[in-house]
Amino acid sequence: MPDKVGVGLIGCGGMGSHHARNLAEIEGAHLRGFADVRSEAAQQLQEEVGCDYCTTDPQDLFNDDLIDVVLICTHHDLHVPLAIEAAEAGKQLFVEKPLALTIEGCEQIEAAVARTGVKLMAGFQARFSPFIAKLKEVIPTPLVMVGQLVDPRWGDDSWANDPIEGGGNVLSQGCHLFDAMYWLAGAEPTTVYAEGGNLTHPNIPEITDSVVATIRFANGCVASAINGDFGSPALAGKAFYELFGGAKTATLYGYYGEPAIKFWGVEPADFTMEDLPSDYRDGSAAHGYVDEMRALIDWVGKDIDPVNAAKVTDGLRATKIGIKAIESIRTGQPQNL
Ligand SMILES: NC(=O)c1ccc[n+]([C@@H]2O[C@H](COP(=O)([O-])OP(=O)(O)OC[C@H]3O[C@@H](n4cnc5c(N)ncnc54)[C@H](O)[C@@H]3O)[C@@H](O)[C@H]2O)c1
Repeated sequence: MPDKVGVGLIGCGGMGSHHARNLAEIEGAHLRGFADVRSEAAQQLQEEVGCDYCTTDPQDLFNDDLIDVVLICTHHDLHVPLAIEAAEAGKQLFVEKPLALTIEGCEQIEAAVARTGVKLMAGFQARFSPFIAKLKEVIPTPLVMVGQLVDPRWGDDSWANDPIEGGGNVLSQGCHLFDAMYWLAGAEPTTVYAEGGNLTHPNIPEITDSVVATIRFANGCVASAINGDFGSPALAGKAFYELFGGAKTATLYGYYGEPAIKFWGVEPADFTMEDLPSDYRDGSAAHGYVDEMRALIDWVGKDIDPVNAAKVTDGLRATKIGIKAIESIRTGQPQNL
C-alpha cells in the first residue's frame, strides 16, 4: 500500500462533508474521489477540501485501484447495496449509521464482509468521545443506566422520516442510543421491552418515532432508553446519559451543546470541556468524529485494530435493538436479543 490511504466518499451531503473536512486534516489520508448523484454537491466539497476527481457514479470509486477505503454517507436505503458492491470490489468500508434499516440488511452486509475479508467500521462516533470514555472509565460496570436521545419534531417531509430512505427517528437516530447503551453497559443486551410507537407523525404510520425501552444486559445491568422526536429537553439537552454504579453516579448532559458530566461519589465532581486538551474542545473532536476518522485511517493504512470502533456486528446489534423494540411495542411482549 502507498504511504497514504486513498479515500473514496459516497454521499457529499451533511455527514459526508463533515467526514471529508476531518479527513483532509489527517496526514495519512489522501482524498481521492467524491461521488454524489448531485454533481454540484461533490464539486462544492472538492473546492472546499480538495480531491482528485468527482463523479456521479459510485462504481467509478469501486473501479479505482488508488482507493483503499470507501465511506458510505448516503441515505439509509443505499447502505446495503453500496456496502456489498464496495466489499465485492475489495474496498475497506466505513458505513454511516444505521448500518441498515432491517436485521436482514445488516446480515447481508455482515455476510459480504465475511466473504470478502474487508474491514468495516460503522458510524458510531460517540465511542470515540472523551465524555463517553470518561463515563466508561469511572463506572465500567453500571448497575442501572438511563439514556435519552430526543429531538424536536422532525418534519413530515424530512428524508429521515421516509419509511424507505430514512426509517423514522427510532431506527435512524435511536441506533446511536442503543449502541451507546451497549458500549456503556459493557455486556451484550439480552432482552428489550418497549412502549411507544407513532406519536408525532400520524401522517406516516409506517414509522416509529417514539420509544421508551427497558433493556437488560448479560451482566445484569438494566437500562431505560428513551428516544424519539417529541420535544427538546431544556435542561438535559438532546442526549443525556446517567450511569449508576452503586457508590458512584455519573450524569452526562448537554452532550450536543456544551457537554459536561456531574459525578456523585467521585472527586472532582465535574468533568467539562475545560478538562480536555485544547484540540478536543470543539464539537467535532469532543463528539468523537475526529478520532473516529483517525482510527479508520490507522486501521486501513497500518492495520492498527481500532478497539473503540463499532464494527459490523456492532452495527447489526444497534439496528436489532431498535427493530426488536418496535416488535415489542407491536406485540406488547419483551423480545429476546
Ligand atoms: N453519525 C452521525 O452523527 C450522523 C449525523 C448525521 C447523519 N448521519 C448519517 O449520515 C448519512 C447521510 O446523512 P446526511 O445527513 O449527510 O444526508 P444528506 O441528505 O445531507 O446527504 C446524502 C447525500 O447522498 C447523496 N446521494 C444520494 N443518492 C446517491 C447515490 N446513489 N450515490 C451517491 N450519492 C448519493 C445525496 O445527493 C446527498 O448529497 C445517513 O446514514 C445519516 O444517518 C450520521
